[in-house]
Amino acid sequence: MRLLVTGGAGFIGANFVKQTIADRPGVTVTVLDALTYAGNRASLEPLADRIDFVHGDIADLDLVDELVSGVDAVVHFAAESHNDNSLAEPWPFVQTNIVGTYSLLQAVRRHDVRYHHVSTDEVYGDLGPGDRAFTERTPYNPSSPYSSTKAASDLLVRAWTRSFGVRATLSNCSNNYGPYQHVEKFIPRQITNLIDGVRPRLYGAGHQVRDWIHVDDHNRAVWDILERGRIGQTYLIGADGELDNKSVVRMILEAFDRDPDDFDHVTDRPGHDQRYAIDATLLRTELGWTPRYGDFRAGLAATVQWYRDNESWWRPYKAITERAYVAAGEQTLGGASA
Ligand code: NAD
Ligand code: TYD
Repeated sequence: MRLLVTGGAGFIGANFVKQTIADRPGVTVTVLDALTYAGNRASLEPLADRIDFVHGDIADLDLVDELVSGVDAVVHFAAESHNDNSLAEPWPFVQTNIVGTYSLLQAVRRHDVRYHHVSTDEVYGDLGPGDRAFTERTPYNPSSPYSSTKAASDLLVRAWTRSFGVRATLSNCSNNYGPYQHVEKFIPRQITNLIDGVRPRLYGAGHQVRDWIHVDDHNRAVWDILERGRIGQTYLIGADGELDNKSVVRMILEAFDRDPDDFDHVTDRPGHDQRYAIDATLLRTELGWTPRYGDFRAGLAATVQWYRDNESWWRPYKAITERAYVAAGEQTLGGASA
């Protein structure tokens, strides 16, 4: 199989390419990535002679058409992916997440190429504490420029499938953690703060809940769907990993042998979604997928170790990311008891 992977220099895409090369010798991989601030060639360095890398934009119709004409399937990870950035400047989210997806859909339509669309559970909005987890039938209700542009891209995929017969599947996954995640995101930000001797930063009271899944479990599900998923079907991916943010910060502090209350509360995110939770029954029963990283604490410890061992990978991004948070108005509100 010849595969085009968009966004393969980002967090989930790079782990997907690594897993694919390791587990599937019959697959050839071309990565298309614009190398935005979130893309890092170093993530693919160990695989450099095993893949083709194309530096380009998914919204470039001619380039995308040419690349899609030479493959059997596309797995589309490329996106602007960070909520906080979407609140500061929404335009790149509209351009990449919506126009970029349009460009890919037109190409797979023209060349009748199988397409898998990687999306997020954030398209469903948020849940209250006692609400039932999201399912494939939950109505879309996105909150932020990030989640609304991802929702728009999902709807384009559904329309191109129904109206033009595009052979597409979709997946909406919960929050990922693991190696190669940008230091702007919650878990790597706190780990790298602690490596630098800086206290973790919790938005608001830290009562928001996220449903954590290891990136390798997400990517194995993507392969299951690509190979055996029903055309036109959406699959939710999640590993029953619900935890509130304060508990996660405390676990990270424990991994550093630090007092679990040694963190700061900072300005909350506007429109901050309260809770995400996934019901992955369809994926589990229809495709037989099960997560291998059942123990979040162990997966987190391995992730902490990865950031300790790979400082050269994240160091160039750390100071600039922290400066951006300050420029966006983040202020420390006080210590754990605040
Ligand atoms: P990321 O920000 O780490 O990586 C995005 C990659 O896309 C980068 O390499 C970037 O250079 C590339 N890119 C951005 N704009 C591009 C463009 N116009 N053309 C080509 N390449 C471009 O993101 P991630 O966390 O790896 O997320 C990957 C996908 O998974 C996204 O679609 C995201 O919505 C989805 N997702 C992420 C999570 C999560 O927890 N991170 C959870 C569920 C779904
Ligand atoms: P994030 O990694 O940005 O993912 P998402 O917004 O897609 O869920 O944030 C995860 C949670 O952590 C979210 O509730 C916001 C919170 N958060 C903090 O408390 N502190 C931080 O420094 C960051 C970046 C996020």
